Amino acid sequence: MLASCTFVIFGATGNLSCNKLLPALYHLEVEQRLPNKMAIIGLGRRDWNTEHWRQWVAEKIESKARGGLDKAILARFQQRLYYFQGDLAEADTYPHLKAYLEEEAQAFPANMVFYMSIRPAEFGVVSDNLGVVGLNSEKDGWRRLVVEKPFGYDVDSAERLETRLHRYFAERQIFRIDHYLGKGTVQNVFVFRFANLMLEPLWNRNYIDHIQITHAETQGLEGRAGYYEGTGALRDMIQSHLLQMLALVAMEPPPSMDPESLRDEKVKVLKSIRPIPASAVNAHAFRAQYAPGTFQDKKVPGYLEEKGVDKDSTTETYAALKLYIDNWRWRGVPFYLRTGKRMATTTSQISIRFKHVPQQLFRQTPIHRLEPNWLLLGIQPNECLRLELQVKEPGLEMRAHTTTLDAAYCSRGEIKLDAYEALLLDVIEGDNSLFLRYDEVRWAWRVVDPILKVWASEREFIHSYGAGSWGPSETSRLFDRDDQRWRNTL
Ligand code: BG6
Repeated sequence: MLASCTFVIFGATGNLSCNKLLPALYHLEVEQRLPNKMAIIGLGRRDWNTEHWRQWVAEKIESKARGGLDKAILARFQQRLYYFQGDLAEADTYPHLKAYLEEEAQAFPANMVFYMSIRPAEFGVVSDNLGVVGLNSEKDGWRRLVVEKPFGYDVDSAERLETRLHRYFAERQIFRIDHYLGKGTVQNVFVFRFANLMLEPLWNRNYIDHIQITHAETQGLEGRAGYYEGTGALRDMIQSHLLQMLALVAMEPPPSMDPESLRDEKVKVLKSIRPIPASAVNAHAFRAQYAPGTFQDKKVPGYLEEKGVDKDSTTETYAALKLYIDNWRWRGVPFYLRTGKRMATTTSQISIRFKHVPQQLFRQTPIHRLEPNWLLLGIQPNECLRLELQVKEPGLEMRAHTTTLDAAYCSRGEIKLDAYEALLLDVIEGDNSLFLRYDEVRWAWRVVDPILKVWASEREFIHSYGAGSWGPSETSRLFDRDDQRWRNTL
């Protein structure tokens, strides 16, 4: 049985809260996984009351509810919701919040989660203010602070933020979230690698030609200019989500499954990524921005036409990187990472390409047409594990063609559990194994920092790609060889 708690959302009316947090909490209600006694307080500037907030939440989650909203469950969920009006940037808000929590102690259990679903620049402000009024103190019940990404803007600001959070909160109270670690298939990378002996001998520079990690999405800015303009795709997706996936693919087996052993191994990989000097940034990194285009036969605007975007903005909505991991296992194997908004389709996948066979035996199939093996891990929307092998083509000739071996759970998006559901439960349970340790964050910043600096200084030009496309063709300049190209599909 989970301990009762009060879950306070800073930035309750924002994009993340509407699209992820509130639907996840509703789904946990459906699955009867929330503590019996749990209050959810939305903190926002709008002049609303609890009744209004309850109605608003119902409207927001309606389109997101799996299988439609259930009236009875919704009513139960709404009873947990409270609204507290306040400006998180104002110091005055916090004594009021504290008084509100104490006055209504019947309704608000003493254990508390403070979820910062806000702009990164505000993380420090909220944590300081909570600390000043004593809302960090665990005299009666625990206090947990959930910090969204990006954790800072670069190495230095991450360091400053870390010091600031620790002014009032202990490490065990801080949950640095990367929701990709809550995704079933991302966790499956780990099981797949370390529960199957046959892969291990192949999992290295002797057999693997290169690895691609792709996250593409069809959606554009979705009204998030305020956040995205100062962030861009490299910070938004690569610094955290994609580098975490890379770490899971490339890490050594940990001595045990305890959280620290796991993180130690991830940190070793991140530390081994070859630093990119400023002079090599253009050879290792590529950025672009979406231009107007067509998606599903509808015209969609370019990034510069989105509301709130500066007309001279060079913020990247597409970023691709080539990284090398300088250790015994991976030296010389390129890892290609890319992400983009307003792309042709929404998909996340890890594609591992093996080397070519060393000898040409099948004369009817020239060696350049003999496809190498691919191992594909579909993260979303299809959770999938697929191996591409060469087999003999039916008929008299000794000719090879590609066939696929699919893991049984390959589906057409039937599994739709959201990563936030698992992670919010972990916060309430106090299990931080799927949350980031600060050194992971710092090493990940070290990887992207030189690129950010060069891009920040080159503000005159950015490549563009048509909305609804697979990104600019120039991005292929990152590849080491002619036979390497982006793998877009499973
Ligand atoms: C978020 C980014 O962390 O991840 C968004 O801020 C992005 O820009 C989102 O759209 C993608 O997450 P998911 O779970 O939809 O792949």
